[in-house]
Amino acid sequence: MFAHACTLSLALPFLFGAAGAISVDIGSADSIKSAAKTLAGAIVDSYNDLPKGSPIGMFEDPYFWWESGAMWSGLVEYSHLTGDSQFDAVVAKALWAQTGDGDFLPPNQTKSEGNGDQSVWALAALTAAENGFTKPEAGAWVDLAKNVFEDQALRWDETTCGGGLRWQIFTFNTGYTYKDSISTGNFFLLSARLAQFTGNKTYSEWADKSFKWLQDVKLLTDEYAVFDGTDSTTKCSSVNHIQWTYPFGVLAEGAAVMYNLTNGDDTWKTAVSGFASHVEVFQENNTSVLTEVACEKNNKCDIDQKAFKGLAARSFARAAISAPFVADQFQKILKVSAKAAVEGCSGDAKDVKCGAKWYFESSNEDAISIEDGGLGEVLGALEVVQALLYPQAKAISTGNSTTENTPSPTASGTGAPSGTGSAAQVSGTSAADKMNAAWSSVAFAGLLAILA
Ligand SMILES: *[C@@H]1O[C@H](CO)[C@@H](O)[C@H](O)[C@H]1NC(C)=O
Ligand SMILES: *[C@@H]1O[C@H](CO)[C@@H](O)[C@H](O)[C@H]1NC(C)=O
Ligand SMILES: *[C@@H]1O[C@H](CO)[C@@H](O)[C@H](O)[C@H]1NC(C)=O
Ligand SMILES: *[C@@H]1O[C@H](CO)[C@@H](O)[C@H](O)[C@H]1NC(C)=O
Ligand SMILES: *[C@@H]1O[C@H](CO)[C@@H](O)[C@H](O)[C@H]1NC(C)=O
Ligand SMILES: *[C@@H]1O[C@H](CO)[C@@H](O)[C@H](O)[C@H]1NC(C)=O
Repeated sequence: MFAHACTLSLALPFLFGAAGAISVDIGSADSIKSAAKTLAGAIVDSYNDLPKGSPIGMFEDPYFWWESGAMWSGLVEYSHLTGDSQFDAVVAKALWAQTGDGDFLPPNQTKSEGNGDQSVWALAALTAAENGFTKPEAGAWVDLAKNVFEDQALRWDETTCGGGLRWQIFTFNTGYTYKDSISTGNFFLLSARLAQFTGNKTYSEWADKSFKWLQDVKLLTDEYAVFDGTDSTTKCSSVNHIQWTYPFGVLAEGAAVMYNLTNGDDTWKTAVSGFASHVEVFQENNTSVLTEVACEKNNKCDIDQKAFKGLAARSFARAAISAPFVADQFQKILKVSAKAAVEGCSGDAKDVKCGAKWYFESSNEDAISIEDGGLGEVLGALEVVQALLYPQAKAISTGNSTTENTPSPTASGTGAPSGTGSAAQVSGTSAADKMNAAWSSVAFAGLLAILA
């Protein structure tokens, strides 16, 4: 399918290069939605255009399986944020098709699947649950997320480095000894969001524990830098110091969720503030636009890494909702980045192309279509532009209360989550209740804010 990548991507820019540049007025919700629609449409069109008999729910080569999970997650949010439900049936079917035995370990993937890959899909399912997304068959989205949590809690490895999740699930895979920030980071976020959604204290205890472990092994520093990983063969004594936007965003989002869940606990407040100031390492100096600083300068970003900024943007937007005291900081970054990212895109239907570097005025020069390997670029632009719609999300969603996004207030037999332990006190209302109330109360203020 992608074998022709080189010839096509070299030839096309000269023919169609500047034509049909996509633009966006970030002060206009309609303009934002229209740009998002073009980008989401390109992704779904390309997916629908895969050869007959392709597996349901994924792009194959050159994309790894995890990226499809990230993409469905983005499209579930697209529907919620824009109110455009035209892709829902395709997205729901696709996301469900890769569940395997209910925990996103489908037989085709088990050989190479890592913990961080599995949790990307679990978070997509949890997003579907949070948004009351359409279901292709009986069953609850949230159960898929819970099942992955159960798997990973069992894989939590105290035999080395005092805990943490390994990059790989299976001993025979290279990378089994590596303990990376995204595997434990995604587990932290999954735990925090499950705690918020269900009100079950077990999840918030795991969120505390996994965050603390990241600090203990110095994958998360006092300055809120997030490093790539460490190795169990050296007892996690040395750290790979590369910083990526994606695990950084995931930890920032999870900390914001915990902050909210604990009604503003000091430890989490400090963490959220720390992330909000450390984010500047990922901002291009002249423009403040997000950049994948580890690989963009030398043009070394691989297919996976080109999707990272978009996922970070998604997390920053969600962090801003959960921790309104940093909303201005994150929104500012998202606004300049969204404009830059979208303006690096051109074309229409499935031939949309986007550039990988958002801060270049001429970022369209390296623009590439999904068919030629540019899914990360297109998804990235979609994520960052639709991120601007979070503040007004509930106002434009249909909010169908018969769906699963309104868990019963009594769902948690154990009452409210504990947060960081002794310091945390949460009122009698369950976390899930608070979240539902939260989304609607923020909607109106957010609508005003985004148009300001
Ligand atoms: C598993 O792989 C086979 C062979 O490529 C494919 O036909 C099938 O659709 C895949 N199943 C899923 C669930 O991805
Ligand atoms: C911004 O400039 C500083 C100082 O020259 C440099 O260390 C940093 O890497 C730059 N940031 C980015 C994102 O390029
Ligand atoms: C940032 O601004 C400086 C000074 O104007 C310029 O030399 C440099 O090329 C700019 N960097 C980028 C990435 O645009
Ligand atoms: C909510 O969803 C149910 C079940 O899918 C459907 O029957 C009902 O019409 C929907 N209600 C609204 C107001 O959309
Ligand atoms: C809370 O979640 C844990 C972990 O999934 C589960 O074992 C426990 O039964 C749940 N408690 C309640 C009251 O649902
Ligand atoms: C929790 O999130 C809601 C929704 O954004 C917000 O209204 C509330 O103020 C947040 N709680 C704290 C302690 O900031």
